[in-house]
Amino acid sequence: MRILGIETSCDDCSIAIVEDGSVLRSMVTASQIETHRLTGGVVPEVAAREHAIAIIPTICSALEKANIGLSDLDAIAVTRGPGLSSALLMGTMTASALSLATEKPLIGVHHILGHLYGNFLEREAPDILFPYVALTASGGHNHLILSRSHREFTILGSTRDDAAGEAYDKVARMLGLSYPGGPSIEHAALDGNPLAFDLPRPLLDTGLEFSFSGLKSEIMRIVQREQGRGEGLSGSFIADLAASFQHTVTDVLVTKLFRAAEEVSAQQVLIAGGVSANTSLRERVVSEANRRSIPALFPLKKVYSTDNGAMIAARAYYQCTGRLDSYPAGATILPDPNLTIEQSL
Ligand code: KG4
Ligand code: ZN
Repeated sequence: MRILGIETSCDDCSIAIVEDGSVLRSMVTASQIETHRLTGGVVPEVAAREHAIAIIPTICSALEKANIGLSDLDAIAVTRGPGLSSALLMGTMTASALSLATEKPLIGVHHILGHLYGNFLEREAPDILFPYVALTASGGHNHLILSRSHREFTILGSTRDDAAGEAYDKVARMLGLSYPGGPSIEHAALDGNPLAFDLPRPLLDTGLEFSFSGLKSEIMRIVQREQGRGEGLSGSFIADLAASFQHTVTDVLVTKLFRAAEEVSAQQVLIAGGVSANTSLRERVVSEANRRSIPALFPLKKVYSTDNGAMIAARAYYQCTGRLDSYPAGATILPDPNLTIEQSL
């Protein structure tokens, strides 16, 4: 089954064509990073306008790259939410119109479930073991999710305040590093000492909830103290603080992921969302998984960690398999910025 996936929930207009939930035929992503760098973050109306400009040419490029036409598709899938309302609207309206014109079924997908299925791109079905626990860590969300099948998902824990990616973005801004913060901090941390600063690890010893606002405030305090000396922030100060921050966040994420896996006797752990592109997180998860003899998956390519159309097509395949008739062509899909997982099933 060949599905066109459309993802416009935030600042990436990403279109992909995926076969049977795993084989990537093409993916084209129009990134808005340069635009949002000017404001240090995403302005929703600006993002929506950029999607309006990019979406049709991006769909055409993805079809061209896969060397197929619209008539060769079996279904069209689109992110319904959560995400930025006006940005989502660009994707859902385009998807509805395409579906009406081509008479292909239209499948609305939950963005966070899309992230989970980014793990299954370019993998064989037997690589997916249930029950699994997934850590999702992005700019907009941070959860531990238990999945018992392609239709059963339970949120075991979430963040009480900032998501991990949001903390990366805010700390990067404090350190004068460019947007998006995750890759900038990862790069700066290469030259730093992860043990240079002993930072707070809120809620580390208990439960499955996350909280990153105290850590963020502590970084702000350290930065202000350094600026108070009147000499600005040196390269080595930035590198040490970036490395210590990354080490601390990774520690919290990994501890909670394996605590959850143990509590529910998971057969596998996954990491997903933009922060799962982080090399130090990937390495820690793999070494901890090896130590406990539990299989770990992470998206095979870093572009499958950050927002992308392929993960939406992959989730759509597993969501609908065998039941395309319940997804009518030309249906109206309204974006829902607060869509829950249950509402998406
Ligand atoms: O999943 P995503 O692309 O968009 C949302 O759904 O939010 O995640 C974006 C987030 C940003 O906060 C970005 O700073 C973070 O993922 N991120 C990273 C890395 N690459 C992206 N965080 C840590 N290390 C990275 N290499
Ligand atoms: Zn995302």
